[in-house]
Order: sequence, then C-alpha cells, then structure tokens
Amino acid sequence: MTVRELLSGSGLPDHEARRLLAHALGRRPASFTDLLVADDVAELYGSLVKRRLSGEPLQYIEGTVQFGPIELLADRRALVPRPETEELWEMVAAMLVDRSPEHIVDLCTGSGNLALALKHEFPHAVVHGTDTSSDALDLAASNGARLGLHVEWSHGDLFDALSPGLIGNVDVIVANPPYIAEREFADLPIDVRDHEPRAALVAGPTGDELLRRIAADATSWLKPGGLVACEIAATRATAAAILFSHYDAVVQADGAGRPRFVVGRSVSN
Ligand SMILES: C[S@@+](CC[C@H](N)C(=O)[O-])C[C@H]1O[C@@H](n2cnc3c(N)ncnc32)[C@H](O)[C@@H]1O
Repeated sequence: MTVRELLSGSGLPDHEARRLLAHALGRRPASFTDLLVADDVAELYGSLVKRRLSGEPLQYIEGTVQFGPIELLADRRALVPRPETEELWEMVAAMLVDRSPEHIVDLCTGSGNLALALKHEFPHAVVHGTDTSSDALDLAASNGARLGLHVEWSHGDLFDALSPGLIGNVDVIVANPPYIAEREFADLPIDVRDHEPRAALVAGPTGDELLRRIAADATSWLKPGGLVACEIAATRATAAAILFSHYDAVVQADGAGRPRFVVGRSVSN
C-alpha cells in the first residue's frame, strides 16, 4: 500500500495517523505520496492504528513523550505527563531561579517528569521523587537512568516516603497528585479511564483528599519561606485555595486561562 492509502484509510485524525506511520517507518513519511510502504511496515502500522482506535494514548504507543527539556519513556505504568504539568514545572523553575535550591521534593512523581525536569534545571539540588506505585517508580528510575539525571526515588504514601532528616529542610515541594473524585471517574475520556492507572487519577470521594493532606503536612517539611506548588482540578480551585490558605497561596491559571495550580510559601515556621 502507499503512504497516501495508509494515511487516509486509518480512521484516525490525520496528525495521529502520520505520527503512527512515522513510528512504524522510523522516520517522518513524506506527505500524502504514492510511495509504496513495505508489507511488514504496513502491518506494524495497522497494529498501532488498532491500538489507538481502542483508545490507548498515542504516547503509550509511541513509547515516549516530551516534557519541557527532557524526553521521557511513557507506558501504562504511569500517567502520561500533560502539557499543563509542564506549565507547573516552568512556573516553579522560574520562581526558584535565584534561590539555588538544595532539596526539592516531587510527591506523586509518576513517570518522574517533574522531578527529572527540575533536576535538569537545578543540577546541584538533591531531588526526591515519591510514589505509592512501584510500577511508576520503576518507570521513573528508567527515565532518570536514560537521561543521566540522579533523583532519589522512594516508595510510600506522600511524606511517609521521605527521610525524617528532610523535615524543615526542603526548599520546594511540587505535586501533581490524583485529584479526580470517585463519581467523576466514569465520565473521563476512554483514553484516560481505560488506559491510565486509576490510582494516578482518583483521590477519593471528594477528589481533594491528597491535596488536603499535602496542605496539612507540607509546612513541617519546608524551610521557612519554602515553596509548595500543586496541580489542581479547575473545578475545585476555590476549595484548593482554602486548603492552602495558611501558605498565603494563590491560584494560578494555565495557558488556557483555567485555574490549575495552587502556589504558596511556608509562612508558619
Ligand atoms: C496524577 S499522577 C501524576 C504523575 C506525574 N507527577 C505527572 O505529573 O504526570 C499521580 C501519581 O500519584 C501517585 N499516588 C497516588 N496516591 C499516592 C499517595 N498516597 N502517595 C504518593 N503517591 C501517590 C500515583 O501512583 C500516580 O503516579
């Protein structure tokens, strides 16, 4: 079959079909041409299209995703890093630029995206990434090894994963925790609901469970004036601002103008 036939007959949006054909070919195909594609490549492409049509995220199929300055491995062990989380990284990196952070903590690290992008930006900092999922931590560790970036990965429930020696010594805590309420899960797009880990998405009955615990405990781990910055659900931004009110927190919008981040400072110790 030709490139033109393969692209037009996939049933996928054109840009997705092109990406999958590029993946199968190992290079970007020339636009709609009558170039013949080898049978084995066409077969591989067909199997990739099938996976995508079943809702599997494009990034899992391609196996990689770009996050700020770094390329990460992506598979079903962890959430696909999102563009808005990249905005969280950018915002935190900009706030830290004159501060030479010593200890950075990324709670709920997943693929390690925030931890690794922060390590990339602040190579002298000791960066700690924690998660309750061993699968996610395995992926994060592979990402770190592949990028040559050293992060201390630790398994456990939020702050329980950290060494008590860090209490009062952390410059910044970032987190993109699960923040979906149980009742919202069924309404998520199929790509997300049926393919990404449920534990990465659902926080509990209200969706605020993890954020509430981070807000309660972050202050004792932060240095005075240390930063806490979390991704939040746009629909519960007011609740998040209240949870973090003792950090003089502000809610920040993402590039689309939706309130997606809460950012504050430790003012109480
Ligand atoms: C929304 S995903 C975020 C992953 C990654 N930081 C990102 O931005 O793509 C949330 C992550 O939190 C982890 N998680 C869920 N409950 C946790 C808990 N109690 N303590 C630590 N990590 C938890 C999940 O395994 C998942 O990897």
